[in-house]
Amino acid sequence: PAPGWSIEADVVVVGSGVAGLTAALRCEAEGLRTVVVTKARLDDGSTRWAQGGIAAALGEGDTPEQHLDDTLVAGAGLCDEEAVRILVTEGPEAVRRLIATGAHFDESEEGDLELTREGGHHRRRIAHAGGDATGAEISRALVEAVRARGLRTIENALVLDLLTDAHGRTAGVTLHVMGEGQHDGVGAVHAPAVVLATGGMGQVFSATTNPSVSTGDGVALALRAGAEVSDLEFVQFHPTVLFLGADAEGQQPLVSEAVRGEGAHLVDADGVRFMVGQHELAELAPRDIVAKGITRRMQEQDAEHMFLDARHFGADMWEHRFPTILAACRAHGIDPITEPIPIAPAAHYASGGVRTDSQGRTTVPGLYACGEVACTGVHGANRLASNSLLEGLVYAERIAADIVASRAGLHARVPAPVERPERPAHPLLAPEARFAIQRIMTQGAGVLRSAGSLSKAAGLLQQLHSDARDALAENGKTAEPGVDTWEATNLLCVARVLVAAALQREETRGCHWREDEPDRDDAAWRRHIVVRLNPDRT
Ligand code: SIN
Repeated sequence: PAPGWSIEADVVVVGSGVAGLTAALRCEAEGLRTVVVTKARLDDGSTRWAQGGIAAALGEGDTPEQHLDDTLVAGAGLCDEEAVRILVTEGPEAVRRLIATGAHFDESEEGDLELTREGGHHRRRIAHAGGDATGAEISRALVEAVRARGLRTIENALVLDLLTDAHGRTAGVTLHVMGEGQHDGVGAVHAPAVVLATGGMGQVFSATTNPSVSTGDGVALALRAGAEVSDLEFVQFHPTVLFLGADAEGQQPLVSEAVRGEGAHLVDADGVRFMVGQHELAELAPRDIVAKGITRRMQEQDAEHMFLDARHFGADMWEHRFPTILAACRAHGIDPITEPIPIAPAAHYASGGVRTDSQGRTTVPGLYACGEVACTGVHGANRLASNSLLEGLVYAERIAADIVASRAGLHARVPAPVERPERPAHPLLAPEARFAIQRIMTQGAGVLRSAGSLSKAAGLLQQLHSDARDALAENGKTAEPGVDTWEATNLLCVARVLVAAALQREETRGCHWREDEPDRDDAAWRRHIVVRLNPDRT
């Protein structure tokens, strides 16, 4: 539909997690007219759910070089080494700036940052807040800073599409806003720079640690805009998610890797520690190895879950170090002080996303991406634990610096979006399609994949797409535009690309596990799968 209202800005930031708000604060501080738009409330994204913390070489004896080594090992041959070097080198200072913005991290009695360990890290380098409530504290501090600086924000604003000018350059975004006074309904923010910071796509699977808003909106927008997207097959499954039953759907409580970092053991149905002997780091091996170890042992024992045993922590440590996890377990009738926690892997993080360079620039001029929606190259085939908050911080700041550096050019250019009548109307899916997509993806493209399971998933997803397209072509019928119909439509868009990439990658690497292609094949596959759709045919 044609926009009913419009506003002008220098920069529009889409999304309000650590990446989006960091970029927005930095742009605003440099005098750019900055607007933040977000699908729900300012603090409703994934950031606030992050538990373990933020990784950076801040401890005595640790160095960015060691952090780089651990990140490259986890990334299984597909990290962009230069992108990782930027992350680990600029990371410590970015964390200090976050602290200066107002985030309080846990400290020892001597006033040093308390650092913990997580999978794949050979050192204690994870800063945390409130014990296991790191994301909530970062979100609080950034939202408060945004409010204190009086940044212009529009909540309940679902981003629809990128606007471009006659030269294919970014000219803003269209939005569907619900119930926000003067900005109600479909409208547009015109701006020569758009920063996508919309988070992940965990909701493409039935069970995920991601909140319900993580529906791949930014990747879908980028695909519709003809931007390059890369590495979507690398979906990270977190090894230890509280098991609430085989049919549990939607967001599931995370049991942070920091619990293993502090000494919890993974045990099978017989109480045996099955990760010992599988990897030198045992329970603290990189995440893909632990998720595979758990899944294999579940298969061997025909069990629906394994257990995480941290009874030896005792009540005091549980209450002070892991209060969020303790409360979540108790809310589901499990007391981790007296019993092992039932856990199973669930979808957690999209290592791939909208392809960017080291300044966060996508392949569409003026369109930037940072945080989980982006593929900067730092994660490769498998993200190292707690590198994501850091990536959001470091690359958001680089984006702001790039926008500031190009401000003369930006200001000289009044964004003039062009109508594109040649583009066919987009077929929207009914809200219920979301659950069909989640079931198809969980069965066909979950922790374990094969050509057979992926081909079946691809066929079923294609059918959903064809049905919606035919209904629109034959009788002009499409679901009523709204958040839930756009979310289902975006989920289908990213699911189709994800499955096609997973089918194409005929090897096992990082978090992409093909049962029918169990080996890593460096000769053929030490490369990225990059997708770019024709904007007029998506
Ligand atoms: C966790 O706390 O285990 C999650 C950390 C992460 O995903 O980086």
